[in-house]
Amino acid sequence: MRQFLLLLPLLAITLVGCNPTPQNKEPMNNEVINAIMSRRSIRQYHQMPVARDTMMQIMICGINAANGQNKQSWEVRIIDNPTTLQKVQDLMAAGNPNLPAEMAHGCMRGAPVMTFIARDRNYDFSAYDCGLLAGNMMLAAQSLGIGSICLGSPVRFINDAENSDDILALLGFSENYELCLCVGFGYANESPEAKPRDINKVQFVD
Ligand SMILES: Cc1cc2nc3c(=O)[nH]c(=O)nc-3n(C[C@H](O)[C@H](O)[C@H](O)COP(=O)(O)O)c2cc1C
Repeated sequence: MRQFLLLLPLLAITLVGCNPTPQNKEPMNNEVINAIMSRRSIRQYHQMPVARDTMMQIMICGINAANGQNKQSWEVRIIDNPTTLQKVQDLMAAGNPNLPAEMAHGCMRGAPVMTFIARDRNYDFSAYDCGLLAGNMMLAAQSLGIGSICLGSPVRFINDAENSDDILALLGFSENYELCLCVGFGYANESPEAKPRDINKVQFVD
């Protein structure tokens, strides 16, 4: 018995070592932590809209993110009209003639609502502001039962396109703002497993 007790800490270390992806298996009695731990990138959606009131609630959570000097160095455009969303994808394909058309059409992962987030070019922390805004939006959505996906590829396809004038005119960001991140929303039609995380990247320093 005494030997077993002595071995217990070793067993605990081994178990933790075998599981480098800490996940909360049991739901906790904490809604924020539950939303964080249950959120996953969703790449399959039911083609049903998200009510604009709900999207507004998500956006209000977004703009309440911490941001440098409260400059709110972001602008957001929301497209929930399928025809307009299709038009953006068509323009993206046209602006990237060397890209297989299905990449331009698939890069939004079928999300029925797409948010386009632009950063203020004149503020050096604006990309972080946009990231924190997007994080709040995704967690708020999760807590409301709405799936989301953060997307970098449409940003590349628009910003690096041979011609993106029409898309940028459609989005209508202010001067000195550039597209930084997209986040898609919708009702999830899949429940992906959590991808592994490496807790060893985090260390206390004494
Ligand atoms: C800045 C950024 C850009 C991303 N771009 C894409 C993308 O273009 N396409 C895509 O399918 N997923 C994209 N993702 C989603 C990541 O692949 C995903 O968050 C990551 O694999 C972890 O999975 P999880 O979100 O389910 O935890 C992006 C995420 C971030 C934060």
